Amino acid sequence: MFNKELYMRRRDELRKKVKTGVILLLGNTDSPANYPSNAYRFRQDSNFLYFFGIDRPGFAAILDIESGTDCLYADDISLKDIVWTGPQPSVKELAELSGVKKTFKKEELYSTLSIAIRNGRKVHFLPPYREANILRLRALLGIKTDHIASYASADLIRAVVSLREIKGQEEIAQIENACETGYEMHTAAMRLCRPGRTEREIAGHIEGIALSKGSGVSFQSIVTQHGEILHNHSYNNKLRSGKLLLIDAGAETDMNYCSDFTRTFPVNGRFTELQREVYNIVLTANDTAFRSIRSGITFRSVHLEAAKILCEGLKELGVLNGSVEDMVENGVYGLFMPHGLGHQMGLDVHDMEDLGEEYVGYNEQTERSGMFGLGSLRMAKKLKAGHVITVEPGIYFIPDLIAKWKSGRINANFIDYSRLEKFKDFGGIRIEDNAIVTDKECRMLGKKRVPATVEEIEEFMAAR
Ligand code: GLY
Ligand code: MN
Ligand code: MN
Repeated sequence: MFNKELYMRRRDELRKKVKTGVILLLGNTDSPANYPSNAYRFRQDSNFLYFFGIDRPGFAAILDIESGTDCLYADDISLKDIVWTGPQPSVKELAELSGVKKTFKKEELYSTLSIAIRNGRKVHFLPPYREANILRLRALLGIKTDHIASYASADLIRAVVSLREIKGQEEIAQIENACETGYEMHTAAMRLCRPGRTEREIAGHIEGIALSKGSGVSFQSIVTQHGEILHNHSYNNKLRSGKLLLIDAGAETDMNYCSDFTRTFPVNGRFTELQREVYNIVLTANDTAFRSIRSGITFRSVHLEAAKILCEGLKELGVLNGSVEDMVENGVYGLFMPHGLGHQMGLDVHDMEDLGEEYVGYNEQTERSGMFGLGSLRMAKKLKAGHVITVEPGIYFIPDLIAKWKSGRINANFIDYSRLEKFKDFGGIRIEDNAIVTDKECRMLGKKRVPATVEEIEEFMAAR
């Protein structure tokens, strides 16, 4: 945990921003995998972590805005539990570490909320994303499950986003730490990769590194020779010479701050001419995006800068024809990069996605596009110093998507579909790095950049 003054300051700020009523924050409970006592790794709710730092299941909190008090609701474990878990800090001890003076039994939460509701006070809560907390909110507040999301407090969401999206120095140090682990994971994969091994061996190895350094992976690792399947979680293939391996993987520190890197490299350590050409387009898009990021410009404009580089490169490859400006305007690049350029990152790998992209990546000045590709951009609004974001351009040759665009003659005046034939089995390339926006520019996170140029990768892999 950070020091208690930090959590107290964050809660004071939150109260000031929300202005009136009571704020209910639910922590997570253990989540069973296949029977009650066989749980998934416990992952605390990131909002709860941000305001209290308590990484234990079964906690809830109320911040009373008018009285300025914070209360925690949780039960101490029984002797029967201690037999299985060993002694654990008491609720009082954990509350003390978080700067909270008042603690209550879990069952008292219901009566506290009932009194608040009876007195006509507004109960602010965040949109729940786990079934257990949806049911808990139904029981506590008497709202039908289908309606709970629509009763979530927009004032509270806005307040939480405004605090969490500007990272403090102590948070940046944590993210840097997660990036160090990310560096180790990706370079270990490059070292281990060779024809005859399997995707699964690489996945197991790098996930082990994440666990050995912190809380484990920050999301399910993608380790695939089918990089064109954007979130491919199967690891069933044997590695084959001539193929590219795409790895999108990151780590969480023991305080749950995340990293998120992607590298794509040749299984045999040497790019073919065609792979090198496509790779360099994606790398140029990544580098160009980094150069243009600074506070005050929108991330949408950075996405469009990267899109322009992709179109220029694909035009040079002979796949696209016409004016690059017109291609960007018409979303031609969506065929090759159907996702957005990046997202915020912090306690969640897609930071605060539970609160809604309309608050986290968009605002009154930034409306979501309806266009295929650009419409998937998670972060479009103006960048501010303190934002941590990912930059992850890619080029993918997705057979089903190409077939659909071709038969619908979508953007047919720009795309030479006959030239796309030779990319049928190419797969996909993504290159992802993490950055902190500062006043004047942005800084790549991590002490060293994971090998990224063709030369760096080939040299690194030649030395295996
Ligand atoms: N790891 C998923 C992403 O890069 O957004
Ligand atoms: Mn990623
Ligand atoms: Mn990402």
